[in-house]
Amino acid sequence: MLLSVVSVKVSFAQNGDNGKNRTESVQLIPIETAHSATVFEVGKDNRLHMVYLGSKLPENKEYNQIIGQYRQGTDYSEVSDVVYPASGSQNLFEPAISVRHADGNQSLDLKFVSVQTKQMDKDIKLTEIILKDEVYPFEVHLFYKTYFATDVVETWADIMHEEKGSVRMDKFASAGLYLRGSKFWLTHYHGDWAKEMRPEQTLITHGIKTLDSKLGSRADLFQPPVFMIALGQKAREDAGKVIYGSLEWSGNFRVDLELDNLNNLRVIPGINNYASSFDLPKDSLFTTAKFLYTFSDRGQGQASRQLQRWARDNKILDGNGQRLTLLNNWESTYFDFNEDKLRSLLKDTKSLGVDLFLLDDGWFGNSYPRNNDHAGLGDWQANRKKLPNGIASLVKEATNMGVKFGIWLEPEMVNPKSDLYHQHPDWVLKQAKRPEYYFRNQLVLDLTNPAVQDFIFRIVDTLFTQNPGLAYIKWDCNAVIYNAYSLHESQQGRLYIDYVQGLYNVLKRIRAKYPKIPMMLCSGGGGRVDYGALQYFTEFWPSDNTDPLERIYMQWEYSYFYPAIATANHVTNWGKQPLKYRVDVAMMGKMGFDIPVHDLSAPDLNFCQASVVNYNKIKDIIWHGDQYRLQSPWTNDVASLMYVDRDKMHGVIFNYLVNARYGSGSHTPIKWKGLDPNRKYRIREINLYPGTTSTLKGDDVLSGDFLMTIGYNPKVDASRSSVILVADAVQS
Ligand code: GLA
Repeated sequence: MLLSVVSVKVSFAQNGDNGKNRTESVQLIPIETAHSATVFEVGKDNRLHMVYLGSKLPENKEYNQIIGQYRQGTDYSEVSDVVYPASGSQNLFEPAISVRHADGNQSLDLKFVSVQTKQMDKDIKLTEIILKDEVYPFEVHLFYKTYFATDVVETWADIMHEEKGSVRMDKFASAGLYLRGSKFWLTHYHGDWAKEMRPEQTLITHGIKTLDSKLGSRADLFQPPVFMIALGQKAREDAGKVIYGSLEWSGNFRVDLELDNLNNLRVIPGINNYASSFDLPKDSLFTTAKFLYTFSDRGQGQASRQLQRWARDNKILDGNGQRLTLLNNWESTYFDFNEDKLRSLLKDTKSLGVDLFLLDDGWFGNSYPRNNDHAGLGDWQANRKKLPNGIASLVKEATNMGVKFGIWLEPEMVNPKSDLYHQHPDWVLKQAKRPEYYFRNQLVLDLTNPAVQDFIFRIVDTLFTQNPGLAYIKWDCNAVIYNAYSLHESQQGRLYIDYVQGLYNVLKRIRAKYPKIPMMLCSGGGGRVDYGALQYFTEFWPSDNTDPLERIYMQWEYSYFYPAIATANHVTNWGKQPLKYRVDVAMMGKMGFDIPVHDLSAPDLNFCQASVVNYNKIKDIIWHGDQYRLQSPWTNDVASLMYVDRDKMHGVIFNYLVNARYGSGSHTPIKWKGLDPNRKYRIREINLYPGTTSTLKGDDVLSGDFLMTIGYNPKVDASRSSVILVADAVQS
């Protein structure tokens, strides 16, 4: 029995003239959202071809006319544009799927069987298209889940067969897109520790460009799975056609972008098949990772607002809810603390006015105390010397003070200097006959093993059971997988995939029992930021680099793909900028502090306290409103970014000097966006440092039209390097 979910199989149409007459389509399948359309066509060859991805046309039947308008040369194979290309038959290009059948044959040619759609709710529709090989009992079901209002599409494939033995899967992508003749500009990202989200934009040339990760865990350390393709010309903020894409997968990914002889672009995203061939037994089903994309014909700004809203409404845990402001101890203590020090940090938390104290690394390990990053990972018992009364007494004390308490965990990892490593050497991913090789002195646990999954679930569960007051988890993951080998796996080709599935199993169990507890997704900074994981997390840690100047660029780039409510920004002592600048930059997302509060001067402390009060007044606009990028830090002296609430009644505008050269500043007005042109707005500067006054008039009332056509000058210069403005609609 094949595990078909929603479809009804219909018998094959006849194969006709073997696809030679491509202009006659048997059936058109438009997958539409409010403004975009992905259109497939079942040709007379019974294959599923991709006709179009772009702006929605008012007349549905005109999608039929699109192909006839292209004269790009001969498609010898006649399958260049098939939606989910397979290898071993007519296809000459990068496949989405490659298999070796039970009899050793390597050919696959998927033909259309049926399509079925199901309206899931007012906004969401699921389309399932069944494809089947005519020679082998092998099927692929393609799914397209459309989110109408936000123009987002999630797509994935179920792969299954009824062959006599197992089928070897060599490639198993989520989807295929085929974009017709244009210039294609690709924006992708590279990075490293403290250097996350560095963009590169390049014209795609003929051949294949691959974006990928082979790191296993902490998979995005060098490259995250997000990218954008601008059609026709380079990506622009408020104009032009752009497609954003990303894999919802927290492990090895691979996106192939192939510009072919017809100048068309084939995009094949999926789980990376690197070292991951595996056998799919008869009657079982393999579900690929989801690939999400959104199309905008109004530039990057619109695309990112679509994606941010989609993420808040549909993906990130509690995306439309509240978040906790916090004080973290990592940079003020590192591993060096005891109960007294933490007690005084609880008092600092209270005096700062934030919601929660977050106890970071270093609180655990007894045989091998966690006094540095060489020991203790895996032994999740409070260190008796540092915390003789355990975590419980601190949680209790925090609760009595009216402060919430959160804790750092890195549960997927183990230091060789730990009881866990000695007790369960078989739980560790490593090559038994090769020397161990460490990343941050640690190894990765084998999450393919249900016993390890259970162990990790119990770490979290025990903490919550013993400390019902515990209110927050920071979930870290600092190592990549070296010497990949699992004692638990019978097929090593499954290891990288099952690792991620194992992680998701644990997170699912945690969420089933603790559905609302806020959790931060951290991976030595931003080494694991993706929508596969974010459905279990309320926020992510973009980078250990908290230098505010660096963060302006980084947060700018993250903002293309992720909403501010999920972007944790902490005020630290990194960077040379004044405290106000550091605080203002942290306010652009989910604000926290990681500074030694007791070392602050009285005015600095006053300022921080007042900032928390100010933040509480505007955070709803930042977390739940629409974001507009006004001026890029890459090309201007002043970076400017704005949030507007859904009713367009209130806006918050952040402005930062990013150029230290003489005379740099905001010499011309900055055009605002997203306001109601017919309303008038009163403009105020907020979050001034004690003893300073604004150089702005303070009582400006201007129309939305003026502010968006002419703009407003925040008067940023070296003496006012960071300026936050608030615009409130005035009653007319
Ligand atoms: C990682 C995180 C940091 C901190 C340390 C603790 O590097 O990104 O924020 O928690 O681990 O060891």
